[in-house]
Amino acid sequence: MRIRKAVIPAAGLGTRFLPATKAQPKEMLSLVDKPVIQYVVEEAVSAGIDHIIIVVGQDKKTIEDHFNISHELEKTLKTRGKKELLHQIQKISNLAKISYVQQKEALGLGHAILVAKDLIGEEPFAVLLGDDLIDSSVPCTLQMVEVFKKFKSSILATQVVEGPDISRYGVIEPKSFDSLDKTEHVFEVSDLVEKPSFTNAPSNLAIIGRYILTEEIFDTLTTAKPDANGEIQLTQGLRLLLEKQAIHAYCFKGKRFDAGDKLGFLKATVELALKRNDLGEDFLNYLKKLPLFSNKSTQIRG
Ligand code: UTP
Repeated sequence: MRIRKAVIPAAGLGTRFLPATKAQPKEMLSLVDKPVIQYVVEEAVSAGIDHIIIVVGQDKKTIEDHFNISHELEKTLKTRGKKELLHQIQKISNLAKISYVQQKEALGLGHAILVAKDLIGEEPFAVLLGDDLIDSSVPCTLQMVEVFKKFKSSILATQVVEGPDISRYGVIEPKSFDSLDKTEHVFEVSDLVEKPSFTNAPSNLAIIGRYILTEEIFDTLTTAKPDANGEIQLTQGLRLLLEKQAIHAYCFKGKRFDAGDKLGFLKATVELALKRNDLGEDFLNYLKKLPLFSNKSTQIRG
């Protein structure tokens, strides 16, 4: 059973990033020189996924435009002999087959996944949150596809979060803390709790924005009750799925940035820029000269 399709929900309101997200989705904010969603699409493609369904909200045009062919721009770059840039631009529109489906109202992550139901059909699929960036040597989704091949169940990507920050996440309660796999940290899920208090958290394993889901999730999301804000939460759908089949949690290898949050976005920008061959060294030299690291003041000389 191959994972051929992925859903990228990108229809949230992005209130944590206002006013930048007033007229554009947060997934289109640029990390160094690429919108966050392009990193996410590239991750899906490198996991062997060939059909990507992006769930868009009201301001869908910018995302579609980014992945579409831009004839005018290509013509100009050709005329000006900017071959490298032209190649980069053409690569974006050839990344994968991308379909768009509109979530008319931001009724929660679970609801966003539900609107992709008809395009997914009856097969397991990946979900990559459009504002979660993962830096890893093996793409996180590819790691998860490998775990899925072994366990043939829904797989939730998790990371260890120490301290009170755990209350910002969905948290899993494993059946046992002994890994089910010799080489990877894989646990069977016994329960899931959305944003527990630090003292009530069943573990320090936080769910982050990468999932492999079996098609039965659509039935459970359909029956899931909306929360107090009228939103259908994915966690609720997953809890109902747990009543029918096993779910596994996988501690992925890599570093995750919450690019939908201002601080997370800044951290991702700095780390990605430092890794760039064309920018890293100059940027590091600049950072070293900041007053934070040195108190040398500028001397005016004749
Ligand atoms: P978030 O939990 O980050 O919600 O969504 P949000 O509403 O976009 O952001 P804030 O908290 O107001 O700043 C996680 C992912 O799910 C998508 C978002 O676009 C993001 O990629 N999402 C969320 C939807 O597609 N639809 C929704 O109704 C909610």
